Amino acid sequence: MSEKIILDVDTGSDDAVAIMTAILSPDIDLVAICTVAGNKDVEKTTENTLRVVETLGADVPVYKGVARPLVKELTPRVPATHRSNTVVDGRIVNVHEDYLDLPPATIKVQDTPAAAFYVDYLRGAPEPVTLVPVGPLTNLALALLMDASIVRNIKRIVIMGGGREVANATPAAEFNVWADAEAAAWVLQSGADILWVPLDATHAAYLTKDDCERLRAINTLESNFAADLVEQRIVVHDARQPLSVRFSAAVHDALAVCAVIDESVLRDVRCVHMDIGLSDYAEGQTIVDPRHEPGPINCSFAFDGDPVRFADMLCEIFTRA
Ligand code: RIB
Ligand code: CA
Repeated sequence: MSEKIILDVDTGSDDAVAIMTAILSPDIDLVAICTVAGNKDVEKTTENTLRVVETLGADVPVYKGVARPLVKELTPRVPATHRSNTVVDGRIVNVHEDYLDLPPATIKVQDTPAAAFYVDYLRGAPEPVTLVPVGPLTNLALALLMDASIVRNIKRIVIMGGGREVANATPAAEFNVWADAEAAAWVLQSGADILWVPLDATHAAYLTKDDCERLRAINTLESNFAADLVEQRIVVHDARQPLSVRFSAAVHDALAVCAVIDESVLRDVRCVHMDIGLSDYAEGQTIVDPRHEPGPINCSFAFDGDPVRFADMLCEIFTRA
């Protein structure tokens, strides 16, 4: 029985691998994709999402989401660590290019904005659905603020975001949560069953150049494109955010989708109490309570990930293309 999911993306490179994984997996019924500003502005993340959907010939509606975080940009905040360009062999390499190297989309987004789609769909859903946000959580937070009762039709929220011992946007925060910390806080307190797939897991479940060769051996448009994206990420990771193994990359968002398919791709998943930092140097921090007597349990958090299982799952799924 395939799992009904709604993806929420800020398509970028790892989002694109996640979308392809969801479309190709027989264990996923991709109901819809919502887009949000994050890696790039929402016009670009939406165009990139449409390019992937159209290239794969998938019949999946795309709903354009919000262009701005809830309140973050209204007040001066501690900025994310500014990162200069990554230059390798004399050329600039970005973990996310403005546009994916796919034909410009000719398909269009739906008329309904993403937050309104969430409310409409979840109010009338015949069965609870799993939400998989892998970008800033603004769309979902807005929907929950519009109608908190939609939580009854949310089976689970599997969030790519956060970090306990690992950060990227600031010393305390992971990008998706940092980009709209208030939105993450609203989602966390929604009462939904939440599983976090944080940087602790995504950095542990790294993909290597050998895994890229395995994808290339499948030799389909999708598998070769996924290999291109992962190799692009390996160059930047190795130069700017090296993982435990040289020449490897985290492909964060695809791990969240794989976790929906088979949670054993995550390791050390614990029920925890979490708060979201909202100010100063803690803004966007997923504060996991380490105490022997923590606060009330409000989510699950994966402290580790399995790189072998992750690579095997992707190769198996992309073989089906
Ligand atoms: O911190 C990693 C997350 O930020 C990923 O979802 C990546 O696509 C970016 O959105
Ligand atoms: Ca993302």
